[in-house]
Parts: sequence; C-alpha cells; structure tokens
Amino acid sequence: MFPKENGNGYHHHEVPSPGIGNGDGVRRVTRRSRASSPTSTSSGTVPVVRVPEQQRLQQHRPPCTDFDMAYFNSYSHLGIHQEMIKDRVRTETYRDAIMRHQSFIAGKVVLDVGCGTGILSIFCAQAGAKRVYAVDASDIALKAHDIVEANNLSDVVVVLHGRVEDVEIDEEVDVIISEWMGYMLLYESMLGSVITARDRWLKPGGLILPSNASLYMAPVTHTDRYSEYIDFWRNVYGINMSPMISLAKQSASEEPSVETITGENILTWPHEVKYIDSYSITIHELETVTSSFKFNSMMRAPLHGFAFWFDVEFNGPAIKPNDSHSTSSTDNHLANGSQRRKRTNPNDALVLSTAPENPPTHWQQTLIYFYEPIALEQDQPIEGSVTLSQNKENARFININLEYSVGGRSYVKQSVMK
Ligand SMILES: C[S@@+](CC[C@H](N)C(=O)[O-])C[C@H]1O[C@@H](n2cnc3c(N)ncnc32)[C@H](O)[C@@H]1O
Repeated sequence: MFPKENGNGYHHHEVPSPGIGNGDGVRRVTRRSRASSPTSTSSGTVPVVRVPEQQRLQQHRPPCTDFDMAYFNSYSHLGIHQEMIKDRVRTETYRDAIMRHQSFIAGKVVLDVGCGTGILSIFCAQAGAKRVYAVDASDIALKAHDIVEANNLSDVVVVLHGRVEDVEIDEEVDVIISEWMGYMLLYESMLGSVITARDRWLKPGGLILPSNASLYMAPVTHTDRYSEYIDFWRNVYGINMSPMISLAKQSASEEPSVETITGENILTWPHEVKYIDSYSITIHELETVTSSFKFNSMMRAPLHGFAFWFDVEFNGPAIKPNDSHSTSSTDNHLANGSQRRKRTNPNDALVLSTAPENPPTHWQQTLIYFYEPIALEQDQPIEGSVTLSQNKENARFININLEYSVGGRSYVKQSVMK
C-alpha cells in the first residue's frame, strides 16, 4: 500500500497543521514545506528543453530563487495534481470554458501557462487548437509530455519544460489559458507569470482564460469550530486542561486556516477586496493590494474572524466580439457600500466560484481567526482595511495586515500565508 501523502508527496503526519481548520491532510501546496525547504529540490536549476537559444538575456526574466525551485518541486508530485484534477468544480469549469470558446480556439495557437499534467492543453487540442504550447517548470512536464504522446497529440501539443519567463516560443499566440489561482487567490503569486506570458506572446485581440478574478472577504462566526479547537481543553477525559487554552488560541489565530465553511458562517454581504482584469493587470499592481471595508452585521453573533475566497470568470471575444471582458461587467453597489461586479446578463457568465455558499473546491476558504471572539450586535458596523502584500523574502507568500474597529475598539492583526 502507498503511504498516505499530502499534496506535496510528504507523508501526512510530517506536516503539522496550524490553525483551526488545517487538519485534514491534502493541500494544493503544503505551505510549510515551501517555506522551510528551499534546498529540498532535486536539482539546482530548472531545465529548459526545446529552446532554440538562451543567450539573449531579457529584462522580463526575474531570477529563479531557491524558493521558486522549492515551489516547482512541490508540483512534481502526484498528489497535488490528483487533488486538482479530482476537483470537478475546477476542472469541469475549465473544460466548459474551453468548449464555450471553441470557435475562438479552433485552428488557433494556445499557450497553457503551468500545464501540470497537460490536462488543459489536451482539452484545448480537443477543442481543435492548431498548436498548444504547454509550459511547466516542474518535472511534472515530463509526464505531461508522455500523456500527450499516449493520446496521440504530439503533433498539436508541444510541451516545454521550463519557466514561462525563460522559454522561447517563436510565434505569437491567440489564446492564453492558465490555472494560476492560489489560496485566497493571490497565494503562490503565479499570476505574474501569466502576465509575463501575455506581454511576451499574446496577439492583440487575443483571449485570456480566465478573463477576470475577484477576491472577496466577509466577517465570520464559527462557534462549532471554535469550541472544537479551544473549548475542547476545558475538559479532557474529565481533566481540566484549560491552561492549554491560551496556546490553542495562539495556534488558531497565528496563521491563516484553509477550511470549508458555509453561507451560514458569513455575517454580512461580502466585500470585494480586489478585482483583477487579466488583460490589463500589471505585476507591480499585485505587489500590494489594499482595500477599505465597512460591514454591518446582519445578526447578533460572536465574530470569530474573517473569511476570504474568490471567483474567476471566463469571458472573452467569443462572447463579446471586439471588446474585452471589462465592458461585459457593470459595477453594482452592495448594501454595505462595497462594490461587486455583476454581469449584465447572468446567462453570459461562466464562473468558477469558491464562495462558501457554492459547492466546495480544493481551495476551500481561507480564514483568519482572532485570538478572542468579539460579541457583535445586529447591524453593528465593522470597519477597517486589509492589505495583502507579497512577502519580501519569498514572494509566493502573502503578508496579511488587517486593521478593524468594532464597538469603539480598534485592532490590528498581522499574519503570513505560507
Ligand atoms: C495549479 S497548477 C495547474 C496545473 C494544470 N494546468 C492543471 O490545471 O491541472 C500550476 C502549474 O503551473 C506551474 N508553474 C507555475 N509557475 C510557472 C512558471 N513561471 N513557469 C512554468 N510553470 C509554472 C507549476 O509547476 C504547476 O505545475
């Protein structure tokens, strides 16, 4: 029998799980392992094959750090790809998006940024693409190559084993597809690589899937989880272990927790922290994202923290010819004053949503718990701001700075998603 592995191929029990909800094994990327083991990669450089010449040093090429090497190494394992592919909400929405844009893809050149096993590239080939460049810096690219061959698609899908920042492709592309989203959207910082690919190769009027993304946040109440994790220590086999409570509170609140909640845990309408337009977003814009919020609690409940989640949409020229996605959305003000874009015609939207009220995905939701819950009254305002910034040491990590005021008291909470 194979040992039970988490997403990175490390044994399940070797990865302690911080936070209230991080105890259920497989993760898309085991965050701790990347932080602590940049030297754990099997080789010192990312190989690049099928690249005609690499002498030309280009400005768009950021250095490949040890953290990047550890990151790509984390994607060389089976478990993480199995987890993503088995996430039917994710994979079927991508397939639907490709099929919906079939008329745009057929006969065209596609670039799959971070192809993994090659599944999206193969969907594009099935949709009639003339050629698909499937690029991945992880060793999983070697398997993608074999999978392409096993499906007799080698004449259409060209697998390039290297960073999208480093490979050379000698033509412009009509379509860029990528599954780049990390926990709370921005973790992993992979979108920068999609932007690099867009700026290097996308033809004017080309299609990017997904076309846009939104990161949301909302205050949450989660008494069951809190009791399970904190109150548990009050009576353990009849023993009063409450001296453990401060430790449990610290552990639950020190790092963001990836877990599945439901709409019932959400206390207000969500606030859109960041809207990303795949066609115009810049790498610089992603370094720091700040957003102010004002919520009004819809009920009387203990406030345990904030939850984050995201949606991505797949729109483009096939749906709205001669225009980009941005004009297909309108800004609507929510009851709490924050903005949320709603499509003019909901039938147009193909959305991959990781919201608590929707079917769960492997991204789940990301929760930031407070050390102590705050007693909220109905209609009580919660005001403040959130800043998400790329960690200076490892840009794939996200620093989260939350400042909020409730009931006349102000709080600051800082954490790192790693
Ligand atoms: C979330 S996985 C998606 C895999 C596949 N597209 C799928 O949908 O199953 C992201 C992949 O992108 C690759 N990747 C991330 N950044 C990259 C870069 N700059 N250049 C090449 N590959 C990259 C990772 O190695 C990983 O295999």
